[in-house]
Amino acid sequence: MTNKNLTWHTGNITPADRKKAFGHDSCVLWLTGMSGSGKSTIAAEVERALMERAVHSYVLDGDNIRHGLNSDLGFSDDDRTENIRRIGEVTKLFADAGMVVITAFISPFREDRDRVRSLMGPGKFFEIFAMCSLELCEERDPKGLYAKARAGKISDFTGIDSPYEEPLDPELVLDTGELSLEACVNRVIALLEESGIIHAGKESDAATRRRGDTEL
Ligand code: ADX
Repeated sequence: MTNKNLTWHTGNITPADRKKAFGHDSCVLWLTGMSGSGKSTIAAEVERALMERAVHSYVLDGDNIRHGLNSDLGFSDDDRTENIRRIGEVTKLFADAGMVVITAFISPFREDRDRVRSLMGPGKFFEIFAMCSLELCEERDPKGLYAKARAGKISDFTGIDSPYEEPLDPELVLDTGELSLEACVNRVIALLEESGIIHAGKESDAATRRRGDTEL
């Protein structure tokens, strides 16, 4: 509940000002999927690809955010909901600052993801499903967590004894069991280009535009 004694201050810089200055629009690329599905790896490579195009971007990653901002949260349903609520607010701030935000959270509940979608507004939220079977995630088990969950050493583990609700109508599905990392990154970049968030074209063109020679 928002305190009645608070007043919203509108700044002097508009979203259009930022778009013009940066040479691209802002949005969130919301990666969702089970642990080991490839979200963090894809997020990091997309960030690199965007950096090469002089697009201001930043990754918010589940494991990292849980070291700091959300270090008070665990993995109960309520804590996961609060985790995503806070990240949604942070994402909104980064996007307001003109950036392409890339998030990598399991975000297992549809309702929580949809709430962030509403918060971001039309055309600003791209849900990207890192699709991967439980069997394959478990086989990869990069952090050894599935083994611990199967052994009963971790409870509430997504896919084992905590649910994952697949997106019903995501903007993009990446079958990470089939596609190479490069193919995944290319599809994300293509999505941004087709949506008009960033310019299509070569990196050098983007860098030129970044200097303000051409308007978006
Ligand atoms: S979310 O469900 O609240 O969105 P988040 O993405 O922040 O989860 O964190 C998931 C990461 O925490 C996993 O990649 C894994 O490394 C770690 N982790 C630790 N315990 C669990 C658990 N019980 N379930 C899922 N992930 C866990």
